Amino acid sequence: MRIDVVTIFPDYLAPLELSLAGKAREKGLIDIRVHDLRQWAHDKHRTVDDTPYGGGAGMVMKPEPWGEAFDALISTGANDERPTVVFTTPSGQPFSQAVARELATRERIVFACGRYEGIDQRVLDEVATRCEVREISLGDYVLNGGEVAALAITEAVVRLVPGFMGNAESLVEESHEDGLLEYPVYTKPASWRGHEVPPVLLSGDHGAIAGWRRDQAVRRTAERRPDLVHPSVLIDDVDIRPVQAGDAGELFVLQRACWVQEEHDNPGVRIPALHETLDELRAWIARDTVLVARSAGRLVGAVRASLDGESWEVGRLMVAPDVAGRGLGRTLLERIEALAPAEAATYALFTGAGSARNQKMYKKAGYRLRGEIAPGVVRMTKAIRRP
Ligand code: ADE
Repeated sequence: MRIDVVTIFPDYLAPLELSLAGKAREKGLIDIRVHDLRQWAHDKHRTVDDTPYGGGAGMVMKPEPWGEAFDALISTGANDERPTVVFTTPSGQPFSQAVARELATRERIVFACGRYEGIDQRVLDEVATRCEVREISLGDYVLNGGEVAALAITEAVVRLVPGFMGNAESLVEESHEDGLLEYPVYTKPASWRGHEVPPVLLSGDHGAIAGWRRDQAVRRTAERRPDLVHPSVLIDDVDIRPVQAGDAGELFVLQRACWVQEEHDNPGVRIPALHETLDELRAWIARDTVLVARSAGRLVGAVRASLDGESWEVGRLMVAPDVAGRGLGRTLLERIEALAPAEAATYALFTGAGSARNQKMYKKAGYRLRGEIAPGVVRMTKAIRRP
């Protein structure tokens, strides 16, 4: 990978000689060249800025030196030899690990470090006719110029270039790579100034260690960066409550999403959940005992039950497809069972004869198959044991 940096303060980029990026240069993995913009300014004072059209405070970087810089640095050859030009600016797209991964795939990057109030817009517009242009911000604060941003972006990108990191695993495990912050880390000694290393890390149980690390990463992320947490990893923090009339719309949509697979697994069976109207749904949520599960505000599951003689009839157990397989269905089932009135002697439910996954989950929860009660529909029951 070749990286060119254009700046009026080339010395600012000296740290690229050190650190990891310096090593990559030594290994020949990257070729970094820093250019002084003023070499393309030709007046006596090598002027690179001027007052803004339309008035206002500060100075704007003139187009001519930038135009010449890009003429010198952008190859006139085939498209695939042209660089991606990154303008570092507080009004750019926020920099992230995802952007770093994308930039790490480029053969050539040219950083244009703006100063003052920014660069004449026509420079960006003109370069965009010749190659890919990205405007990238390091964060929601204003620096004196784009050099620190170019340094930070270079460091994040270069360490992703294949062959750069000795241990590729450490790339996969670190913060942001899986959308989570990294779990806390410890080294010897096991006890230090009265602070102990968490015992699970000394247990040698790799499954338990992986589970603990994942849990810590999720907790940290939820506490420090709730904006990063996807509801599917927050399944421990699901809030299960009785349904409210206002849940009807979301429940209607979730229900439709959840029973499509059932229809697929049970060809020819008419699935009521896919055909009822919103008003019909409103009627049963007003009539039955219904629980809904929310994660980070989003409706991700529900279940209903009603008493029929001595039978607590459980139904419409649904979990959003993207959070399935994490135990929420089982939890909802346990919670609705716990609400069975004293008169109930059995839990009962129906499911598709072809819904192998559902049947497996119900069997694990203690339900037994009682036979096909309609074509393609099986009944399962479990005796209620009270202490
Ligand atoms: N130049 C000035 N502030 C900046 C920021 N936050 N990100 C990128 N470049 C900048």
